Amino acid sequence: MKKKLIFSGIRATGRLHLGNYLGMVKGMLQLQEDEKYQLLFSVVDIHAVTTPYDKDKLSQRTYDVVLDYLASGLDPEKSLLLVQSKVGDLHAELAFYFSTVMTVARMQHLPTYKEKAQQHPDNVTMALLNYPVLMAADILAYHSELVPVGIDQEPHLEVTREVARKMNSLYGMNFPEPKRFATEGGKVPSLAGEGKMSKSIEGSYINLTDDLETIKKRLAGAPTDSGKGESVPTSGGVANLLQFVELFMGEDKRKGYEAMYVGEGIRYGDLKNELAEAIYAELKPIQKRRAELEKNPEYVEQVIEEGAKKARQIASATLAEVKEKMGLK
Ligand code: TYM
Repeated sequence: MKKKLIFSGIRATGRLHLGNYLGMVKGMLQLQEDEKYQLLFSVVDIHAVTTPYDKDKLSQRTYDVVLDYLASGLDPEKSLLLVQSKVGDLHAELAFYFSTVMTVARMQHLPTYKEKAQQHPDNVTMALLNYPVLMAADILAYHSELVPVGIDQEPHLEVTREVARKMNSLYGMNFPEPKRFATEGGKVPSLAGEGKMSKSIEGSYINLTDDLETIKKRLAGAPTDSGKGESVPTSGGVANLLQFVELFMGEDKRKGYEAMYVGEGIRYGDLKNELAEAIYAELKPIQKRRAELEKNPEYVEQVIEEGAKKARQIASATLAEVKEKMGLK
């Protein structure tokens, strides 16, 4: 049986946080156990240069994601690990052809584009506008039908589906229309009270490499209230903390705390301590594996080279077909 490829990626922004882990990595690890699929875990370093970045730190940031993938459970016997720039020539060329079927107006309407344009008003570049088209190239190069990503990536998947439909109808390609593979952590909240956990918002995240003390410190900064009220808050700091309780300690524990909130009251010091221990219990084995991997760079390098070689074979076949069907013979 020929296995179906599943592609997903994380930008090369350094160490992973719990949002990346619960929203994406865990979904990938779940699918890795399914015989039907072969997984392609990618570090998308070319996407990382579409907004201002530090060129001296990029390769270390890429490597940090590589290590976090392997430490979390990417099994090179089953899955591929791809550093995107190793096949950047193929993905970028494919993205260029895909950009011929997407209008500027459509791309300017994307919420992610608008957000980034607001964050970096002096860097609203062609590369930024084309970011989702490059993502479509990543996914469609491998005909990935499922894409494990967080909810925030939905608008990008919609672009990918549009590209697929247009390439199929205009040029007779046979691209799938990829769907999001959802995990229970599709939208991990920020520790800061509002919005989602994000690398670009200080105080919002916990990294996979954080030790117990750091986790406690980060949780200590999460906003709370008096611990008591008539009804349990549905948004803001307390609601977010309760969501973390559910994600790391289960639904019953959450219900227990909710009952306390409308009863005798929650002592947040106790809740945060218990939560920190539960998060650390999940991260500790990952950190142990990471420390071992750090001592074995030759092995990591070999996994990267092997992934690039296999990915190149597949992506170059897709690119050749696209060129041929577009009349670029
Ligand atoms: P990026 O690097 O922003 O995030 C990587 C993955 O982590 C998920 N994520 C979250 N999930 C739940 N809650 C959160 N708070 C949270 N924060 C981040 C994201 O949804 C994502 O799955 N455009 C992509 C990278 C990309 C890609 C691709 C993904 C490029 N090409 C092809 C899939 C397939 C991005 O910026 O992810």
